[in-house]
Amino acid sequence: KIRAAITGVHGYVPDYVLTNQELETFVDTSDEWITSRTGIKERRILKGEGKGTSVIGIESSKALLEKTGTDPKDIDLIICATVTPDMPFPATANLIADEIGAVNSFSYDISAACSGFLYALTTGSQFIETGKYKKVLVIGADKMSSIINYKDRTTCIIFGDGGGAVLLEPTTEEVGVMDSILRADGSGAQYLQMPGGGSRMPATVESVQADKHYAMQEGSAVFKFAVTNMADVAAEIMEKNNLTGDDIAWLVPHQANKRIIDATARRMEVAEEKVMLNIEKYGNTTSGTLPLCLWDYEKQLKKGDNIILAAFGGGFTWGSIYLKW
Ligand code: ACO
Repeated sequence: KIRAAITGVHGYVPDYVLTNQELETFVDTSDEWITSRTGIKERRILKGEGKGTSVIGIESSKALLEKTGTDPKDIDLIICATVTPDMPFPATANLIADEIGAVNSFSYDISAACSGFLYALTTGSQFIETGKYKKVLVIGADKMSSIINYKDRTTCIIFGDGGGAVLLEPTTEEVGVMDSILRADGSGAQYLQMPGGGSRMPATVESVQADKHYAMQEGSAVFKFAVTNMADVAAEIMEKNNLTGDDIAWLVPHQANKRIIDATARRMEVAEEKVMLNIEKYGNTTSGTLPLCLWDYEKQLKKGDNIILAAFGGGFTWGSIYLKW
């Protein structure tokens, strides 16, 4: 059987650091509240006119190609998971392909919010497993600052900009993407959405003035769904693959809230030191959190490590992937 192995990972975060202390200067909040409720200390913001999410995809992809000694002309496919595309069309993946010189690839975006990277990794791995393609770039990236209302303390404290890319290549060894469970429930849209800017509510002066072009959420409802569903789906994939907490080398959870992460780890009976965590320095980068975690912890990963990725987010969407490094 051909499997899709991750043969490289690289992330990118912009330089600008937005700290809790700076947030205190423009919304009614405190470092103490943000830290105790979310675990976030700071997040990165992509500054500069004309710079969209593609910048994150381009920077991480270029570094990844260099690191793995890959010729961009050899890339067959680029999938970019994002909810903050540079524009509705063309796809951000098309723009990334052009900038990195992937002239022989086809490319498209996937919109599944915080679960986007899981959706993209699952999709990308199938193209490898069929034997049809040899090199697939899977990117998760978001410039959340472009859809955040910095007067809304319930959202602006959570999100940041960043992301990363992985290279998928075929292997006949027992490593790579081993299993995947993906779920979606559109009735969750009422709790977490960006109402404006699509075909239902195109941008007008009124819609902009009514703050409809920002992400909005019912935080506590999202929290409850996230805690239950993320833990359930992670436990389900472990059971399906006969894995116990002791068999797991790493849990890579979506970085939305430290309390959601802790609850998921407890449910899986995975020890705290095996949980990848970088929410403190990047906040929630939506599609970007999982590749950013893999990048941050890359040096600690050993061949054959059992890794469980899990996420929950807008849609609702959620899922889990069992990966062997
Ligand atoms: N600073 C200070 N006080 C605040 C802030 C803030 N930034 N935000 C809200 N509060 C206040 C509220 O107004 C409320 O005050 P009240 O009791 O006087 O009405 C109080 O704090 C408690 O508010 P809750 O919303 O109940 O606080 P909660 O403990 O649920 O934490 C949070 C809020 C952090 C948003 C949490 O619900 C959460 O993390 N939800 C998950 C949302 C999420 O991660 N969404 C991202 C996309 S989906 C995903 O990635 C999973």
